[in-house]
Amino acid sequence: MDRLAGKRALVTGGASGIGAGIAERFREEGAQVVVLDLAGGDIDCDIRDADGVAAAVGEAVERLGGLDLLVLNAARPCVGTLWELDDATWDDAVAVNLTSVHRFVRAAWEHLVAARGTILLTGSVVGLDGSGNQAAYCATKAGVVMLTKCLAIDGAPHGVRANCVCPGFTETPMLERFLAEQEDPDAVRSYATGLHPAGRLGTPRDIADAFVYLASDEASWVTGVALPVDGGLLAGI
Ligand SMILES: NC(=O)c1ccc[n+]([C@@H]2O[C@H](COP(=O)([O-])OP(=O)(O)OC[C@H]3O[C@@H](n4cnc5c(N)ncnc54)[C@H](O)[C@@H]3O)[C@@H](O)[C@H]2O)c1
Repeated sequence: MDRLAGKRALVTGGASGIGAGIAERFREEGAQVVVLDLAGGDIDCDIRDADGVAAAVGEAVERLGGLDLLVLNAARPCVGTLWELDDATWDDAVAVNLTSVHRFVRAAWEHLVAARGTILLTGSVVGLDGSGNQAAYCATKAGVVMLTKCLAIDGAPHGVRANCVCPGFTETPMLERFLAEQEDPDAVRSYATGLHPAGRLGTPRDIADAFVYLASDEASWVTGVALPVDGGLLAGI
C-alpha cells in the first residue's frame, strides 16, 4: 500500500464520484492529496475561473510543498444534439471540460517540471467513440484525449508524463442524475449495463485503480495513453 509514497497530488472534482475514489485510493497508497471542488473539498474553486485556478494551484503547492501529480478530473455532462445547443451551454461545456485543462497545466507546469511529475486526466469512452445526444460532451472528451497526447509529446523532454483514463458508465452521482432525468431510469440503467460485456457498471474504485497505476513509478515508461476502463465496452460488437 505504498505505491504512491512521497507523491503530492491535486485532484479536481475530488469531492464526489470518481474523483473521490481517486483521492481515497491515492491516500491508501501513501500519497498526500489536496482535493479541489466547487464545494466540499480542501480547496473550493470553480475551474471556470482563470484567476481562481491559478490561486488554487498556488495554494495546493504551498500545502503540499510541491506537486507530483495533477489529476484533472472535474467535468460536466452536456445533453443535446449540436443543432439544439445554445451558445451558453456549448461555451460552458468547453470551459469546464477543456479550457480548464489548459489553465491548470499552465499554472502547475513549473512545479510539475521541478518534480518530474505526471498529469492525469479523466476522459470517457465517448471521447474515443461517438454517442447520441451529447455532442459537446463527446467533443470535449475527445479534446481531453488529444491534449493528453500533445502533453505527453511536449512534456517528455521535461520529464513530465501525461495519461488519460476513459471510463465506461460508472456508478457516481453524475450517472444517478443522468438516469433520474430519463423517462424510464430502470430501463436506461439496464440498457447501459448491457453495453458492458463484463455485465455490470463500473465503480469509482475500478477507475481509481487505473489512476494509481498510471500515477505510480510502475508506469514510468507509459505516456500519451488513453486507457479505456470500461468492462469491455469498447472491445467490439
Ligand atoms: N460517471 C460516469 O459514468 C462517467 C463516465 C465517463 C467519464 N466520466 C468522467 O468522470 C469524471 C468524474 O465524473 P463523476 O461521474 O465522478 O461525476 P460527479 O458529478 O460525481 O463528480 C464530478 C465532480 O466535479 C465537480 N465539478 C463540476 N464542475 C466543476 C467546476 N466548474 N469547478 C469545480 N468542480 C467542478 C463536481 O462538483 C463534482 O464533485 C468527469 O470527468 C466525467 O466526465 C464519468
